Amino acid sequence: MSEQTLFKVTVDNITIEVPAGTTILQAARQIGGTVAPPAMCYYSKLKGSGGKCRTCLVEVSKGSEKDPRPMPKLVASCRTTVMDGMEVKNITSEKVLDARAGIVEFLLLNHPLDCPICDQAGECHLQDLSFEHGKSGTRYEFQRRTFKKHDLGKHIQLHMTRCILCYRCVFTADQLTNKREHGILDRGDHAEIATHIEKSLDNEFIGNVIDVCPVGALTDKTFRFKSRVWFTKPVDAHRNCDKCSGKVVLWLAGNDVLRVTGRKDEWGEVKEFICNTCRFEKKNQEDWMIEGPRKLNRHSVISQNHYALKPKPFKALENTAKQ
Ligand code: SF4
Ligand code: FES
Repeated sequence: MSEQTLFKVTVDNITIEVPAGTTILQAARQIGGTVAPPAMCYYSKLKGSGGKCRTCLVEVSKGSEKDPRPMPKLVASCRTTVMDGMEVKNITSEKVLDARAGIVEFLLLNHPLDCPICDQAGECHLQDLSFEHGKSGTRYEFQRRTFKKHDLGKHIQLHMTRCILCYRCVFTADQLTNKREHGILDRGDHAEIATHIEKSLDNEFIGNVIDVCPVGALTDKTFRFKSRVWFTKPVDAHRNCDKCSGKVVLWLAGNDVLRVTGRKDEWGEVKEFICNTCRFEKKNQEDWMIEGPRKLNRHSVISQNHYALKPKPFKALENTAKQ
């Protein structure tokens, strides 16, 4: 059996070994924490994703052991594979932080200030990104884009002005459903998500476009304006489903199930995609076996009011008491 070739890569002064073919983003995620660049279009479960939004740009200060020259420009970490001896700078690079602020400004050029009424508020990656890297003002002086409204059916609400054209929903429809009925039409400033001839998106598993959308462009009509997400109580639950794993998160208000979503990992990616029946039709607690409270590990406002007790520093307390 051939042995797997391992490459040494250093990201923000932390060195790890990863198999050849690993991207810089995947290597940085293995280290974890703030070392991992943000990613608005890459989605590890969707083939072909990445390379669209540029939020994951990093500086390669040493190309490899054999050719130590730095790369002349910042590179998209989701699309660049590591080389042996490569050295990468993410949050330790002024250039990267400056570029990221520019990308956020660019993504926000046409993005409406909808956060106070947007269902995605509190779990929006763009909101987090602008909080971390954005500027308080805008230099944009022109009118923002508007679009003709498209109705995507009874389950999915489209707000095209919020879309950042990451293509995740297109890959989801392509790879998870039996027939893709929407896509990105037109080009440049006119590019938009649509079905071309008005059609509703209702084929099985299409509800997952809501979970993969990093902003509030695609939201759940059955949850629309029902509650701010930080006022709800998320619990892990499951049911016997013949179409999907049936493992979900229920977002509760009292005994009411306001919303059903897939379970997300620490990078905000769905672990197992769920079917439309589980997502849109099972809105009674009796439909589910509740496992317990959902652990929220993202830093966003959604964790507000979901307190976790920190372990007490017993030793320090004892020592102080003895003094
Ligand atoms: S609707 Fe959402 S998932 Fe689809 S391209 Fe726009 S931002 Fe991406
Ligand atoms: S996550 Fe790499 S370009 Fe969007």
